[in-house]
Amino acid sequence: MKYFPPLICLFLLLSSCVSENPVPHKISDYQLIPIPQNIKAGAGYFQLNPTTSLTFDQQNEEIAYSANYLKDYLQNNNQIQLAQSSKSGNQISLAIDPASGPEEAYTLTITQKGILIKGASGQGLFRGTISLIQLITQQSGQENLVEVPCVHIEDAPAFSYRGMHLDVGRHFFPVSFIKKYIDLLAFYKMNRFHWHLTEDQGWRIEIKQYPKLQEIAAYRNETLIGHYSDQPHQFDGQKYGGYYTQEEVKEVVQYAKERFITIIPEIELPGHSRAALAAYPELGCTGATYDVATKWGVFLEVYCPKEETFEFLQNVLSEVMALFPSKYIHIGGDECPKEQWKNSAFCQDLIKKEGLKDEHELQSYFIKRIENFLNSKGRQIIGWDEILEGGLAPNATVMSWRGESGGIEAAKQGHDVIMTPTSHCYFDYYQSDHPDEPLAIGGFLPLEKVYGYHPIPDELNAEEAKHILGAQGNVWTEYMKTSQQVEYMAFPRALALAEVTWSGKDKKDFQGFCSRLAIHLRWLQNKGVNPANPLYDVKTTVKNSSGSIHLQFSNQAQDGIIRYKNSEMASSDDPAFTEDLTIDKSGTWTGQTFVNGEAVGKPQSIQFDWHQGAGAKLEIKNQPANKYGAGGKEALVNGVLGSNDRYGDKEWLGFEGKDFEAIIDLGKKTEVNSVVFRFYHGPGQWIYAPNKIKITLSDSDDPPNVWQEKIINKKTRKAMEVKVEVDSQEGQYLHILVPNFGIIPEGAQGAGHGAWLFVDEVRVL
Ligand code: ACM
Repeated sequence: MKYFPPLICLFLLLSSCVSENPVPHKISDYQLIPIPQNIKAGAGYFQLNPTTSLTFDQQNEEIAYSANYLKDYLQNNNQIQLAQSSKSGNQISLAIDPASGPEEAYTLTITQKGILIKGASGQGLFRGTISLIQLITQQSGQENLVEVPCVHIEDAPAFSYRGMHLDVGRHFFPVSFIKKYIDLLAFYKMNRFHWHLTEDQGWRIEIKQYPKLQEIAAYRNETLIGHYSDQPHQFDGQKYGGYYTQEEVKEVVQYAKERFITIIPEIELPGHSRAALAAYPELGCTGATYDVATKWGVFLEVYCPKEETFEFLQNVLSEVMALFPSKYIHIGGDECPKEQWKNSAFCQDLIKKEGLKDEHELQSYFIKRIENFLNSKGRQIIGWDEILEGGLAPNATVMSWRGESGGIEAAKQGHDVIMTPTSHCYFDYYQSDHPDEPLAIGGFLPLEKVYGYHPIPDELNAEEAKHILGAQGNVWTEYMKTSQQVEYMAFPRALALAEVTWSGKDKKDFQGFCSRLAIHLRWLQNKGVNPANPLYDVKTTVKNSSGSIHLQFSNQAQDGIIRYKNSEMASSDDPAFTEDLTIDKSGTWTGQTFVNGEAVGKPQSIQFDWHQGAGAKLEIKNQPANKYGAGGKEALVNGVLGSNDRYGDKEWLGFEGKDFEAIIDLGKKTEVNSVVFRFYHGPGQWIYAPNKIKITLSDSDDPPNVWQEKIINKKTRKAMEVKVEVDSQEGQYLHILVPNFGIIPEGAQGAGHGAWLFVDEVRVL
């Protein structure tokens, strides 16, 4: 017990008195993320001070984790050392009562006299302790005193798997950061950390039996500079790498255990294995030597399904199992090009010998052998959804990343599923369409979209839905060189996913989340975390209804005043935005949030390129995919161009394997000189600009007999424009037919799947 001067003791004694007329609280006073299932607001405060004692069963290790975490937190952040026993009766009690609900359930009762946290298990108790700590962080506090608002909370998670992933292969992060990341997951009641430990660009875990994994596979000669789509590729010329020793891994596993987080290690196979092949080329199919990859993407170099490869992998996995107690071991399984297996006499013989149909069944054979091995050691595999191709291994859990369809199929086959669709769970995508955003892989996944996710697809019946264990945010680090950048990309989107997976569909409320988020962002910043802060950033919404275009400014905080200007206005007279603006000309409009007269958050500009089709009615035959059509079909004729590199924004429409067919009604007979199309070309993201465009201007909306055709010879990466001259033709209806590129060729990312066709504004000039 610390020494306290008499005056402070007197103050503490007085302040721990129970108030006769406690102030009642509102539900909104408890700014917890994720929001609990049930909160009953109380009145008054519990005075947490150095006379407060912590009571728990010292013999119970599961309880001790929560007790130690709470003690350390208060000591380090509030300079309060909890007493062993209390004369004042002011105490915090921790207990486990298995009858009180599902495994992670807890109740937290705070009265003026005491705090009781009761977990259904050690896990539940820890989650409840986190709720208490979150409430503690939200009180301004004086030295040696925190007033914690009285409350009764009953809580349990909607999903049992609430995870975050981190790719340490593309960039490597120190143990201190891994612990910080785990702490942050724990603070938001997540319970799984998927540690992606091996990649083409680096092998990051010490395997004692194979020292060349440390000497060779852990280092690459140099790294790509800029975006993969920037041509020609340039490199930094600097050796890069590192790995975690087994001692470090043990330390991290223990650290996670004390926070009730299970670490799921991923050892990628049979693809994404070029670093391992650089160290042990005999495990490949070609007899060639390999180097550790220095740029991103999917590589043809994959493990050969030879006996010596299985022996290697089993030895590696044995060391991995000795380090990680997790029931699940992730074995990758994604993006394995079959080229080398097709050209290998050994693989072709094996296909015949095993009675397999093709290379997909060979991949399935590969995964099943690994599954057999891991099952024989009492472990289960998780694989990316490609492991469905060629037949799913009998006991596998599927991580559905290429949308939800793999997860749906697996659940229908009776397999467990973790949802991680790129559309809602890829935190390497851009989160803002602001031009100053740091370089990212592409896509567009704002906070609101993450928050809107529900991991159970409508296609599943109640029985099948039980196989959806939960969801996970993925953090691929090609474009994240530093831990600060990882933090910026992962937070606060991880907080949105924490609420999606803990609180569930019925509790969600985005506005409520945003207002609670404000205090959490401040806390994160105070803790030295570098979260993005999108709350006051201005958002623009363009509505295209009955022939006219309207512009709206807003921010997610729904706070402050947004002032706007357009390129023709003098800067001194920026009016406050109060109602939608009608747009009928080209120009740039800019909005900025002001709070108490000060600009906060990022401004947003929107440029209108007026044309004869702006605001027109249109019909489209095939619908875009739900996840890539947020602006509706009207986005094609709203006068606004989509981002050059964020095809997921509201302006782009994405058609999965389908053609783009439209009729634009110009309202009256109109003379047209040219039509300018915008397409997106990003083969790395499975997006292909089309090979041709067909158009006809006509007086009728009946399908035309004759088309004008434009062949597209040259495709440039990201957004590209194609102009079709029509030489002053007249007509009211512009018919458009843009055939999809078709099936993605072998060797490319997404090989064998229908290409995505992304279309933006169709400008009629
Ligand atoms: C993945 O993003 N390749 C699983």
